[in-house]
Amino acid sequence: MTTQEQKRKTRVTCAPSLAPYLKAELEQLGFDCLSMDKTGVETLATTTEAMRLNLRLRTAFHVLQRFADINCRNADELYSEAKRLPWDRVIDSAGFISISSNVRNESITNSMFPNMRLKDAICDKLVQVGGKRPDAGSSTDGMVVNLHWVDNKARIYLNMTGRKLSDRGYRKMPFMAPMRETIAASVLMEMKYDGSRPLVVPMCGSGTIAIEAALMAKQRAPGLLRSNYSCNHWLHADKNAWSQERADAKKLMVKDDPAPIIASDIEPEAIEATKKNAVTAGVDHLIDFHICDFSETPMPEEVGDVVLHGEYGIRLGEDDELISTYKRIGDFMKTTCSGWDGYVFTSGKPLIGAIRLKVSKRTPFINAEIDCRLLRYELYKGSKVIEA
Ligand SMILES: C[S@@+](CC[C@H](N)C(=O)[O-])C[C@H]1O[C@@H](n2cnc3c(N)ncnc32)[C@H](O)[C@@H]1O
Repeated sequence: MTTQEQKRKTRVTCAPSLAPYLKAELEQLGFDCLSMDKTGVETLATTTEAMRLNLRLRTAFHVLQRFADINCRNADELYSEAKRLPWDRVIDSAGFISISSNVRNESITNSMFPNMRLKDAICDKLVQVGGKRPDAGSSTDGMVVNLHWVDNKARIYLNMTGRKLSDRGYRKMPFMAPMRETIAASVLMEMKYDGSRPLVVPMCGSGTIAIEAALMAKQRAPGLLRSNYSCNHWLHADKNAWSQERADAKKLMVKDDPAPIIASDIEPEAIEATKKNAVTAGVDHLIDFHICDFSETPMPEEVGDVVLHGEYGIRLGEDDELISTYKRIGDFMKTTCSGWDGYVFTSGKPLIGAIRLKVSKRTPFINAEIDCRLLRYELYKGSKVIEA
């Protein structure tokens, strides 16, 4: 069995609050979840399978393959133990490396120090074996090594991803307070969106929810949108396997187009950004764009899902200024969206209360370190209005 085909412990990381969606995605792709915590899921995968995860996962940040576990009490021991590892088999001494770490060890007071010592260990090993040292720095566009060190136990991972998977590469034009791509994908998973019913996204900003929906509906692997991954720089990774995984991912795309996806925003610049981003993602032909107040958004005849991610106080402006907008959101959903499933992604009780409709489900999310909720409303004729 080649090292490429050997199953290894693989940690897939994600933003806080997204681990259940990541676990569901992994299971759907046929991977068992060995453990799950706030920021990731552990599974077993060969290097080829881990490449597949890089290309297909919608809710993950990084795919990390476990390289070694070492015991070390301080940075000197980290250096000496790490220097014994076979770095020459995995790192190209003519390449570029970056170290990222997460450390809880009482001997460490400067969080950059372990990165420097691990980088020294790797470079010194490569000089010892081949006489050449790689360049190193903070850019994650080359080879990336992750260190997770708690007390006397350090775990070293080879990062297969490099830049976060949430940086799909299509958001060339962010508008104000954009939602992270991985959160948008998780919100759509929570809505059970599959492209079979219309989706309306008023207040679309730079279009992240609409674009992620189009990618999901077409079963387009999000990782195909960019070409550079850290594993492309590994000495030991099989280039043919990577090309084959990309080719297989391309074949997943379905021919049929989804039910209408409508994106609207009151700001012309937001719609300009949404259009440009959708063109970059290759899904502009699947989205109808409108510049209008959310309440004027043209609704398809067939019912579906409507999702609003408006501004919320702590991030943008003051809650008080937004109360009337949220009252109007409630009116819009009650009058215009009768028969639809309505969703509002927001933060803060006063704003939620201002909608004055009965919430059928609240799902917590953390967006840009703010506690948020995805609120679900079943909007039937005569939906119950809660009096303030
Ligand atoms: C938080 S941003 C949405 C971000 C979006 N989910 C993204 O990922 O880029 C809120 C958006 O609501 C829009 N907006 C505010 N008031 C509006 C109104 N009355 N009608 C339509 N859009 C409005 C803003 O222009 C802004 O683009």
